[in-house]
Amino acid sequence: MEENGKVLEMRNICKSFPGVKALQNVSLTVYEGRVHALVGENGAGKSTLMKILSGVYEVDAGEIVFKGKSLKHQDIKEIMDLGIAMIHQELSPLENMTIAENLFLGKEPSLKIGCFVDFKAMHKNARRMLEDMGLSYDPARKMRSLSIADMQLIEITKAIHRGASLIIMDEPTSAITSNEIKTLFEHIRKLKEQGTAIVYISHKFDEIFEIADDVTVLRDGQYICSGEIKDYTEADLIARMVGRKIDNYYPKEQAKIGETVLKVKNLNRNGAFRDISFEVKKGEIVGIFGLVGAGRTEVLRAIFGLDEFDSGEIELCGQKIKKLTTDYMIRQGVAMVSEDRRTYGIIPRRSVEENITLTFLKKFMNGVFTSRKKENAVVKEMIQELLIKTPDEDALIQNLSGGNQQKVVLAKWLLGDLKVLMLDEPTRGIDVGAKSEIYRIISQLAGKGVSVIMVSSELPEILGMSDRIIVMHEKTIVGELNVTTATQEGIMTMATGGRYYG
Ligand SMILES: Nc1ncnc2c1ncn2[C@@H]1O[C@H](COP(=O)(O)OP(=O)(O)OP(=O)(O)O)[C@@H](O)[C@H]1O
Ligand SMILES: [Mg+2]
Repeated sequence: MEENGKVLEMRNICKSFPGVKALQNVSLTVYEGRVHALVGENGAGKSTLMKILSGVYEVDAGEIVFKGKSLKHQDIKEIMDLGIAMIHQELSPLENMTIAENLFLGKEPSLKIGCFVDFKAMHKNARRMLEDMGLSYDPARKMRSLSIADMQLIEITKAIHRGASLIIMDEPTSAITSNEIKTLFEHIRKLKEQGTAIVYISHKFDEIFEIADDVTVLRDGQYICSGEIKDYTEADLIARMVGRKIDNYYPKEQAKIGETVLKVKNLNRNGAFRDISFEVKKGEIVGIFGLVGAGRTEVLRAIFGLDEFDSGEIELCGQKIKKLTTDYMIRQGVAMVSEDRRTYGIIPRRSVEENITLTFLKKFMNGVFTSRKKENAVVKEMIQELLIKTPDEDALIQNLSGGNQQKVVLAKWLLGDLKVLMLDEPTRGIDVGAKSEIYRIISQLAGKGVSVIMVSSELPEILGMSDRIIVMHEKTIVGELNVTTATQEGIMTMATGGRYYG
């Protein structure tokens, strides 16, 4: 790394939260026109370090120098004005604004008289900004109605127009399709050419190696190493992130496969999926692979009673379900872990314990009272088993790192007397070490006779964990493969609409 062109230097940053040392003497140097990957396991401190930089949190100790100027106690707005923009991991606070309101947040053009916002000017300017980026949205549209990818593009638009010389992207691709990733990378490359520096947080190694120039590894709030990405292999990075060797990454055990538990017959929902038929047996793990948009999530949602379907039938243990509701399915032992934990995964202002136990509170009933002791013991066990990083079970779930929130959601469902577990992208945003733990748990559940349906866009995960693989393309099932004969190429060919004889 060259010494000149240094945009940012963070030195010996320390930050504690009650019960957690989130960062201890962490340093980071970022250069103009380069992408700096920030990597580490869930809870390593990546988001915290960047929230300090962008003015969300104050540092306990340490020094920040941005473009030669020492930063001290600046608030979010001042930081933005200096040219640092952060695209957050959770974009939810923005969802109630319109696109225009978000683009001009804190910079609304006011009418000459008084301090009222000039909406007409705001919309006109917003439209121009969007057009510059090749986006054709109505600026009056609510952020909420956009896909996560588009929300991110809007955030990037905002950053560019504010003349940001450093853009922080916190797991920008965790919820977007491969095409959208391509578009994002094109934008990143353009930004680089203009000299913009980018801090890029991700758990996906293929992306890191494609887009990053430099890398810094954090582990448990500590600085581990940094350098040019070309001097590292994936194995090097993993070893430094995890601090231990992970052997047997996919601990799939051969489970005893029994009778059919869930049977889906000719399920249709206009515009979402068509003619879906498949079954899952006791102890079996069925992987559903498809590109984003293939209709996989919609199928799971319909089975779980979150959306209605137009025609078709679902049988559970040989019984046709007459009136399918989510409550009914949960009572029957069907669980679903959704891909988007923001909307129906977690209750943000509740504790880790409550988030784990609320759905199955009945389990802890002694007569009409809940047994706090029993509840607490079970929760503690879950936290240990899933390696959930939290100061204790009373911490608010919203204070946990992204990946650890995901583990809490999983823990919640594991409490039920499960018959069928439906997982939608179960390891999205989850680091390598914890991924392997989650695979181990899924495998153990199957071993105990639970039927598992796992939707995933990650081929190695599908191949590593499934007994049988269903491939979806354009809203319907295009094939079914036995895991012993399936190959990555074969699955991909089917998923993209090609024919595959294998
Ligand atoms: N507002 C907060 N209050 C209390 N603890 C917090 C808060 N924010 C973060 N933490 C804790 O600080 C540690 C670092 O969290 P951080 O969000 O920075 O991790 P991360 O590296 O971004 O992880 P992930 O990959 O899961 O997003 C975690 O133990 C987390 O629980
Ligand atoms: Mg994070």
